[in-house]
Amino acid sequence: MKVHRQGMDAAATGASSATSADVVDYTQALESAQPDEGRVVVRVDLEAREIDWEFVPGQRTRAWAFGGQVPGPTIEAQVGDVLEIRVTNHLPEPTVVHWHGLRIPAAMDGTERVQRPVAPGESFTYRFRVQDAGTFWYHSHYNETVQMERGLYGALIVRAPDEPVFDADRTFVLDDVELAKNGEIKPPGGWIESHDGREGSVRLVNGRQEPEVRMAAGQVERWRFVNAASARYVRLSVGGRPFRIIGSGGGLIPSPVTATEVLLATANRIEIAVGPFEAGAVLRIETLPFNRGSFKSHKRPELFATVRVGAAAPSMTRIPARLREIEPLVTGPVAANRDVRLGFSLGMKHGVEFDINHQQHHHAEPVRVGELQVWDVVNRSPVHHPFHLHGFFFQVLEVNGKSPDYRSWEDTVNVPAFGKVRIAWLPDDRPGGWMYHCHILEHHAAGMMGHFEVIR
Ligand code: C2O
Ligand code: CU
Repeated sequence: MKVHRQGMDAAATGASSATSADVVDYTQALESAQPDEGRVVVRVDLEAREIDWEFVPGQRTRAWAFGGQVPGPTIEAQVGDVLEIRVTNHLPEPTVVHWHGLRIPAAMDGTERVQRPVAPGESFTYRFRVQDAGTFWYHSHYNETVQMERGLYGALIVRAPDEPVFDADRTFVLDDVELAKNGEIKPPGGWIESHDGREGSVRLVNGRQEPEVRMAAGQVERWRFVNAASARYVRLSVGGRPFRIIGSGGGLIPSPVTATEVLLATANRIEIAVGPFEAGAVLRIETLPFNRGSFKSHKRPELFATVRVGAAAPSMTRIPARLREIEPLVTGPVAANRDVRLGFSLGMKHGVEFDINHQQHHHAEPVRVGELQVWDVVNRSPVHHPFHLHGFFFQVLEVNGKSPDYRSWEDTVNVPAFGKVRIAWLPDDRPGGWMYHCHILEHHAAGMMGHFEVIR
């Protein structure tokens, strides 16, 4: 097997300005990633290949997987560790792996913008230091409507030493698939699917249809949810019981927020403290009806998993009233310095075309390191779009003119139909080629994305 270590290949990516001398190239990024004092290098071998997988118990489906399982293995690290992940591609087509939500050098972002896809039979090593605690994920960033639908994604959890203590810490990666009668994943297609994005009728938690979860009565657990679905929004409920939101896409939020439901657009993560429940309780982890403007509607709650609460056990959970300080990026009134307009039109290629600023695969102006960005993400279409910025966290200032319920760091935010979301972010010193896009995979594929450079 050929081990291939690539640099930025400007000719292959068409990213001409990515060759600028300011840009940290692949080799430089590889060599400069060193763990903090006392921390370690976590090495992971991720092989992508076709496997047989039982999304539905007893029914075999050809899936594509990292490490022989769907989702791929959960990668765990501590803040200050270096992750060195060698991806080997045994698929019949190229792939590339994106580290969603991680603040890493552009050269390690895992997109066609910054690297040549990993060809069948080749390997590629990603190496970067992790600097933020939180619930992240990794996924294929190539032919996503096929590769992600077949299972090429996994969770990536980063912990810090000073985090609150819970009786248990679990990760729920949510997804759905659409299976044909023969049990295989349906190939993408059709104009409704290109408009709505695919919503499969088989709902999955950690790669299995509607599993059971057991927990002890009297305990309080930390549950991390990742919405890895192609298009489905999850309006998450745990048996209608109140839970406490403690974290989102970019780690802990300032203090716990009690809720009975929370909306997860695709690619969103949420961390909640659940319990204590009484012995014998049976609770449905489900998605409540939600209308995101798609043709396919959801009029009833739909099950993801069932929680069975067993005998009581002592609890050692301690949730402080203050979880974290997050300084506001913006105080007082501020004007946006950029409009990102999410548009749509009818067209020949996909039936429904999605664009940004009237351009498919929009080429946006560069941003400069250290210059505050205030962007208005304006949705000119009748459907919701989850807007994802690669490589940098932003703060949501307003959704349709209202400030959000809590301050947080995010990398993906839902932009309601005909709505407007104002975000602020500060490009730190990681120059190179970056992108933003709608995380409904079909919309992304249709060109609802923008490329830009971070320059010094
Ligand atoms: Cu999770 Cu460019 O995506
Ligand atoms: Cu979209």
